[in-house]
Amino acid sequence: MDADPAELLNVAYDAALEAGRFLIERRPRDLGVARTKSSPTDVVTEMDTGAERLLIEYLLGARPGDAVLGEEGGDRVAADGGASGVRWVIDPIDGTVNYLYDLPAWAVSVAAEMRGTVVAGVVHAPATGHTYTAVLGGGAQADGHPLQVGAGAPIAEALVATGFGYAAGRRARQAAVIAGLLGQVRDIRRVGSAALDLCTVATGQVDAYFERGTNYWDHAAGGLVASEAGAVVGGLRGAAAATAMVLAAPPGLFGPLHDLLVDLRADED
Ligand code: IPD
Ligand code: CA
Repeated sequence: MDADPAELLNVAYDAALEAGRFLIERRPRDLGVARTKSSPTDVVTEMDTGAERLLIEYLLGARPGDAVLGEEGGDRVAADGGASGVRWVIDPIDGTVNYLYDLPAWAVSVAAEMRGTVVAGVVHAPATGHTYTAVLGGGAQADGHPLQVGAGAPIAEALVATGFGYAAGRRARQAAVIAGLLGQVRDIRRVGSAALDLCTVATGQVDAYFERGTNYWDHAAGGLVASEAGAVVGGLRGAAAATAMVLAAPPGLFGPLHDLLVDLRADED
């Protein structure tokens, strides 16, 4: 029998809170970069790897038959080949650069995928104490309060969050997109955590979010929070949200912003 998404959410929630406690309590004062990934600015700290290990131990301790996809390479295949159908998609610290600099906008992101569909997600921001949760078809919540986006601001009044990749070439193109967008919206925010950007679309603290180049673990849980709050979450030209593009906005804003991003060639490098 398939797992109950609400039970998966409980497991994800407890795991994310435990990882959050670890990341707050054990953060060294002299925290440094342990290694870099795709570019010298794409950093990993010892705490990313430690928190990922802790998450995996917690999740597979609770549900030994599941699989895991983790940002820091801690992937696990299901011991029995995947009979449970559940894969955990985890980002131990989304917003690692903020964590490194001791800025508060970083989050532990845990999503539960059932046969390829995200059915539950938690984005926990330990430094601010806020936790965002969602179950597919069951709505989204912030700290236990239901979330529902409005109709959507007119594009000229929209506060739009975005993010930039780690590769200099991609950033040059992203800068050109921002140059084209800035005069047409209220303003731009670059907070530094894709998972939290998606949750702030859900809470209405920004009007929309878009980014090219995020990984699945960056947007799996936050994407469900945004869509369960009533936002449209997708890519460009009818595509699903993916590395090519994630765009999240209330229904009335999604279309106008989508068309502008297409005009600005926001999904090109
Ligand atoms: C990054 C953050 C950032 C986004 C990058 C992501 P990381 O994740 O979400 O806001 O702009 O695209 O890679 O590296 O901090 O886990
Ligand atoms: Ca991330």
